Amino acid sequence: MTVEIKKCNIEDLQTLQEISKETFYDAFKDQNSTENMKAYLESAFSLNHLKKELTNISSQFFFVIFHNEIVGYLKLNTGDAQSEKMGDESLEIERIYLKGKVQKNGLGKLLINKAIDIAIESNKKKIWLGVWEKNENAIAFYQKMGFVQTGTHSFYMGDEEQLDFIMTKALI
Ligand SMILES: CC(C)(COP(=O)(O)OP(=O)(O)OC[C@H]1O[C@@H](n2cnc3c(N)ncnc32)[C@H](O)[C@@H]1OP(=O)(O)O)[C@@H](O)C(=O)NCCC(=O)NCCS
Repeated sequence: MTVEIKKCNIEDLQTLQEISKETFYDAFKDQNSTENMKAYLESAFSLNHLKKELTNISSQFFFVIFHNEIVGYLKLNTGDAQSEKMGDESLEIERIYLKGKVQKNGLGKLLINKAIDIAIESNKKKIWLGVWEKNENAIAFYQKMGFVQTGTHSFYMGDEEQLDFIMTKALI
C-alpha cells in the first residue's frame, strides 16, 4: 500500500480543519446530540483555534496520506501543550482520527508507532491519551497497542460533561 505520514504546517490549516471536522463528526455523531456536536465542532475546530494549535511549538500535527488522499491525522503534545499536567517526561496523543473507509487497515498502528518514535527521540518515558469511556473501538485498539488505563478526566462536548479514560503506555 502507498502510505505516507506528512508533518503539517500553517499552509495545511484549511485542510486540517476539514479532516478534523469530518472525522470527529463521523466518529461521534450517533452518540451525541446535534446541538452539542455543532457547538463542539465550531469551537474546537475553528480556524483561530486550530491556528493557535498548529503554531504552538509544543504541538505537532501529521496527516496520513493513503493512495494520495489525506485520510486521517495525528496530534501530539508535549510540555505545557498537554491537556493534563503530565510533566516533561510524557507525550500526549491528543487526537488520532481516520476516515471510516480506511479504518482497520493498520494505519492507526502506523500513527501510534510514529508517536512512539517521536517520544523516544525526545527522551520521553511514557505516552498517554484520553479516550471517551463509550468509545469501545478505540479503547480496544489502544489496549492492543499496549496502553493501560491509569486514570480518568472530564471532557466537555458542548455543555455535556463526559468521562474520558486516561490510558498510558510506558516506553522503558
Ligand atoms: C481508533 C483508530 C485510530 C484505530 O485505527 P485503525 O487503523 O482502525 O486500527 P489498526 O488497523 O491500525 O489496528 C491495529 C491493531 O489493533 C487491532 N484493533 C483495532 N481495532 C480493534 C478493535 N475494535 N478491537 C480489537 N482490536 C482492534 C487490530 O486488529 C490490529 O491488530 P494487529 O496489530 O494484531 O493487526 C481508528 O479506528 C479511528 O480513527 N477511529 C475513529 C476515530 C476515533 O475513535 N479516534 C480515537 C479517539 S480517542
